[in-house]
Amino acid sequence: MTSCDVLVVGGGIAGCAAALRAADLGADVTLVLKDTLGESNTSWAQGGIVGLPPASYGDSPELLAADIEAAGAGLCRPEAVRLLAQEGPALCREFLWKRLGVPFDLGADGEPEPTAEAAHSARRIFHARDFTGQAIQDALSEAVKAHGRIRILEGRMLVDLLTTPHHGRDPRGVYDPIRVWGAYLLDSDKQVHRVRAARTILATGGLGYLYLHTSNPAGATGDGLAAAYRATARIVNCEYIQFHPTTLYVPHKPRTLLTEALRGEGAHLLNRRGERFMTKYAPEAMELAPRDIVSRAIFQEMASTGDSNVFLDLTPVAAKLDLEARFPKVLSVCRAEGFEPLRQPMPVVPAAHYFCGGVAVDLEGRTSLPGLFAVGEVACTGVHGANRLASTSLLEGLLWGYRAAETAVTEGRGSTVPSEAALKAWIPAQGPEAADPLLIEQDWNNVRTTLWNYAGIVRTRARLERARGDMGHLYHRIEAFYREAPLSRPILELRNAVTCARLILKAALLNPESRGCHYRVD
Ligand code: SIN
Repeated sequence: MTSCDVLVVGGGIAGCAAALRAADLGADVTLVLKDTLGESNTSWAQGGIVGLPPASYGDSPELLAADIEAAGAGLCRPEAVRLLAQEGPALCREFLWKRLGVPFDLGADGEPEPTAEAAHSARRIFHARDFTGQAIQDALSEAVKAHGRIRILEGRMLVDLLTTPHHGRDPRGVYDPIRVWGAYLLDSDKQVHRVRAARTILATGGLGYLYLHTSNPAGATGDGLAAAYRATARIVNCEYIQFHPTTLYVPHKPRTLLTEALRGEGAHLLNRRGERFMTKYAPEAMELAPRDIVSRAIFQEMASTGDSNVFLDLTPVAAKLDLEARFPKVLSVCRAEGFEPLRQPMPVVPAAHYFCGGVAVDLEGRTSLPGLFAVGEVACTGVHGANRLASTSLLEGLLWGYRAAETAVTEGRGSTVPSEAALKAWIPAQGPEAADPLLIEQDWNNVRTTLWNYAGIVRTRARLERARGDMGHLYHRIEAFYREAPLSRPILELRNAVTCARLILKAALLNPESRGCHYRVD
């Protein structure tokens, strides 16, 4: 067992910001990563992060807040939106640009030069060409590695949160409220170890990999959400899964994001006949309508034509920008698949992109469980409401990571962490049977196709009920297996995925109202 002041689980922008801020404040921090530092959903982000450009761009925190609320379809939490709009851009500038030196593209005045994206009423997206997430992650990873107070544990999988009274040895603890004191982690030696911490910050990211088509990496399996749920934290808004309108469609290959900034800079959506079909679905905003509207329009267009995809035409962008210089990643991704974006429109489909729900948190990132904070995509701050505005998630992760760390350090200072002897060690499963990879793969296929087909862009009660039945059956099978087989990352991820699938389905069934990215047609 090891111990620390602040345990951070997850190393994307939210986790790294939290770790750095807590360590700056003098806390001993342990940063736990499922893979290695640098491998995160953050590093896959292309478009950018909301900043506040000079006044000449005509922007203001009020205008940003209004855009976020409009995209969020009446479900945003106003005080969270205000906080993000007022404090986020300054932190982006001071922390990411000034302190960490993230190489944002600069204009002639030496300031970050903003780009445009859908549903933003001003140019305000700071970007590093089209690999902004990678640039941010690289800078954060360097700073984390260089910080003397951060201990990095790579290749450790979160098994469960360590809570009392559940994991305490004192039977009278049953009268106390539930509290989080760290986590159980599966190590590379296949043993489960405990990390004790005065405060724990979950920053484990989202769950896009639960869907057959996704812009997310394979590690986005809802680990933190499932662990928080098992520990009885309050979870909200699970029906709101955002689908990104444009990922490159290559049959039998994983989807790859084609950034929103392409449409922000003028790319057109076309059907097979070369028609700009958005005229039918959002005649004013066209391709710059909020994501839920554009994704549904593409879905309906594909359904009505029977086509497997629509197309994104980049030539209007090429007419005004040097595509090679501005979108090198997009070009290389497309060319690697044999397409030439300067001569032909790219085949695209929507894909699961962002989880707008999560572990309910307050403005400081506190969850409903004392001792536990959540930041980034695993958390629901209320900023995104029923549909997230593009390029706000990196900013939200940064701001809440920073704020949660400050509160965790301050509140953690006075607390008495239970001794090692007062907490139970992990009891390993006794069964000899190791997980059969074929069974796990088949179960994953089941989860991913079920959610895509039955809890996707357009939902009905009948489909959701069918999915709930199927996932309930799978859940009981996997729980039994989890208790008997030696633990492994594939088993834990699958268990988490099925838990999250059930949360999504339950929320989607209970909510008959179409709003934002939850769309019911019955
Ligand atoms: C994109 O580049 O389109 C993704 C940005 C985001 O999801 O905020």
